[in-house]
Amino acid sequence: MAEPVLALGGICKSFGGVEVLRDVALSVPRGARHALIGPNGAGKTTLFNVISGVIAPDAGRVMLDGRDITAVPARRRIRLGIARSFQNIRLMPHLSVVENVMLGQHARASLAGLFAPVGLMPRSRAREEAMAVLEAFGLDPHPGQVVSNLPYGVRKKIEIVRALAARPRVLMLDEPAAGLNTAETAALRDFLMGVSEAGVTLIVVEHDMPFVHSLCGHVTVMNFGRVIYDGPAAGVREDPAVLEAYLGHGRGGDAA
Ligand SMILES: Nc1ncnc2c1ncn2[C@@H]1O[C@H](COP(=O)(O)OP(=O)(O)OP(=O)(O)O)[C@@H](O)[C@H]1O
Ligand SMILES: [Mg+2]
Repeated sequence: MAEPVLALGGICKSFGGVEVLRDVALSVPRGARHALIGPNGAGKTTLFNVISGVIAPDAGRVMLDGRDITAVPARRRIRLGIARSFQNIRLMPHLSVVENVMLGQHARASLAGLFAPVGLMPRSRAREEAMAVLEAFGLDPHPGQVVSNLPYGVRKKIEIVRALAARPRVLMLDEPAAGLNTAETAALRDFLMGVSEAGVTLIVVEHDMPFVHSLCGHVTVMNFGRVIYDGPAAGVREDPAVLEAYLGHGRGGDAA
């Protein structure tokens, strides 16, 4: 198996005495398309917050490329190559598409001088690069168009492109298909395949199981803050613990 780009071990987190993450381990090989699923409240977004550094775990370690980053602040983690999109769209509605993507560039990794630090880049060049990233991922840059006027499906894609503008090694997506129709979901899947082929490791939280199966080879299932399944996507449908977790939450259709 490829060396993990991201590895978590023993992650615990409580909020006000309620244990939300219990001894969570996760290992994501470089280049993987890894799904993280589970019923509502299972702890998926909280785990993303631990990985991106938004919240500190009470115990456990987060390793990126073999380096312990548990104590590294969120801003620096983006520069180390971990980017994410949010469960609710967090674009700046009054800014244009290109300007929103330019915001993402500011978090860009500047490892080993591979990329010019954006702060030192002329604004015109930053704009050109943002346009190029949008076009590379098949999105019309909609010059001048403010984001709030665009359809929901387009805004969701722009949020992902903004995260990609930081040129991450690992991209975490929190329910990217939520609220999309069938055609938009299929387009998103193709789009993410392209991102994956460009070498970005994907970790995807999603309730849409056909989408998960069409994109991801490996699935980790959480329930009540614990990992209850970690293995091939194909095996998740038959796993008794997974079926029980979903039935118990009245979401029996989801894991099927
Ligand atoms: N900042 C917080 N303070 C207190 N409780 C929190 C906080 N963040 C999350 N929780 C609680 O932690 C639990 C897990 O929440 P989380 O958002 O991680 O679930 P999830 O798996 O992402 O669910 P969903 O599928 O509904 O998005 C929930 O019970 C939630 O209420
Ligand atoms: Mg969530």
